[in-house]
Order: sequence, then structure tokens, then C-alpha cells
Amino acid sequence: MLKTLPLDHAELSFDDRGTGPVVVLVHGFPLDHTMWQHQIEALASDYRVLSPDLRGFGRSTGASTTTTMERMADDLAAMLDGLGIVQPVTLCGLSMGGYVAWEFWRKYGNRLGALVLCDTRAAPDSPEAAANRRKVADEVMTSGPAPVAESLLPKLFALQSFEKNREVVEQVRRSIESADARAIAAAQRGMAARSDFTDRLGDVDVPALVLVGSEDVITPPAEVRAMAGALPHAQFFEISGAGHMAPLEDPQACNAHLLAFLAKHAK
Ligand code: MLT
Repeated sequence: MLKTLPLDHAELSFDDRGTGPVVVLVHGFPLDHTMWQHQIEALASDYRVLSPDLRGFGRSTGASTTTTMERMADDLAAMLDGLGIVQPVTLCGLSMGGYVAWEFWRKYGNRLGALVLCDTRAAPDSPEAAANRRKVADEVMTSGPAPVAESLLPKLFALQSFEKNREVVEQVRRSIESADARAIAAAQRGMAARSDFTDRLGDVDVPALVLVGSEDVITPPAEVRAMAGALPHAQFFEISGAGHMAPLEDPQACNAHLLAFLAKHAK
């Protein structure tokens, strides 16, 4: 069921399904909670699945000039507060959702029972990558989201998804094209300024499941594998034949890993 919650200068929209241990699904850039549709369906019979639209995305409002990863993590904590959820949750983030998960761990570690990290990294942007993000942020305010979709789509999916899974590609295209330009710009600036968590991975004292598409060119498997290796309690799996959007490209494989992990670690 779609719900809304007032935040400071914003309204957070989120899907709230099922009952049981709480799993929070945090979408990637510049998408919304619907990218988790297959996971929501698979998990909601045994878990309470909360999937927010991050600030400014989907039906949520409130993007300003910059939306930091910390601000997005604060919004997640506010959502849990608003729902009266005090037990530790499993936080599952894809890409930008993973950057938010690191901030949630740093600030709200006592509310975290387990982590699922999909197609993401702990390293910050290089100065060049950060500068490029700020450029894209300026451009999107004049040109709108269509050029963002055009440049991002080829990197989001494995080649075989373009051939055999065209529907999913088009779904993501529509999602990007309908995103709010301000939210895109604000998140780009926020990602450009995000912190480096690589040296802190050894302190992440919760069980973690790390997934990456074998064809991911945005967060390549070798980098994601190394990140998992630096986490004290992580399991790592490559999703064969999937790209950066592994949970959408191969929901069966991702859900099997997720369900096995949650059965063991979700409280
Ligand atoms: C995402 O999927 O959230 C983005 O690829 C993250 C990024 O641009 O670093």
C-alpha cells in the first residue's frame, strides 16, 4: 500500500507491504521504488517490505539544490520513526541506494540488523567524475531528463537484456524520463560530494549480502567483490548475465539469494 509521510520541507512516499521482520529497499539513481517490483512481490509474504521513493523521486517531493546521501539516510530513519519501527531492519540498496546504506550504517547503526548491497561501491567519485556529475546536474535543469536516460541506459543493462528483455529497458527509460529534473540534479550533486567508506568497511559489524551483475559496467564485479572481501561478514554472489540493474534483469536469481539471506539474518 502506498503511504506518505511529512518530512521537513518534503513528503516521503513509500510502499508498505506485508508483515514480519522489516526489509527496506532503497532504489538507485534516478529511479523510484518500482525498480524493486519483483523483490516486493517475492518478500512480502514473509516480511514487511518498505520501499521508499527517495527525496524528490517517484511520488516523493522535496529535492533542493543538493540532496546528500546523509539526508536520504535521515529520511529513511524518519520513515521508520513515523511508522514506530524500533527493531533493527535489513537495508537493501542498489547503487545510489548503497551509498545511502553506508550513511545509514554510520549514523543509525543501532537500527541496522543486516545489509544487502547490490551493484554499488564504497569508494567516492574521482575529482573528474564529481565534476562531470555537477555538469550533468546543471544540464538537466535546462535539457530535462531525456538526455540523462539516453546516456545512462546503455550502461545500466547487460547486452542480453537489450536483446531479450526489452520491456524492462523501456520501463526504466520511462522511469528516468518522468523523473523530476530537480531531483536528478540534487542527487548528482549529493553523489559527487559523498564520503569515502572504503576504510570503514572493516567496522561494518552486521551480516551483509553483496550482489553484482556479471556484466555491470558502472560498478564492475571486480570492484564489488573487493568491497565484499573487506566486509567482515559478507557473502558475495555474481548474477550471471545481468548488468547494473541485476534485480530487474534477473529477479529469480537475486530473489533466491535475498530470501536465503533474509531467512538467516532478518530479525
Ligand atoms: C545508480 O544506479 O544509482 C547510479 O549508477 C549511481 C551512480 O551514478 O554512481
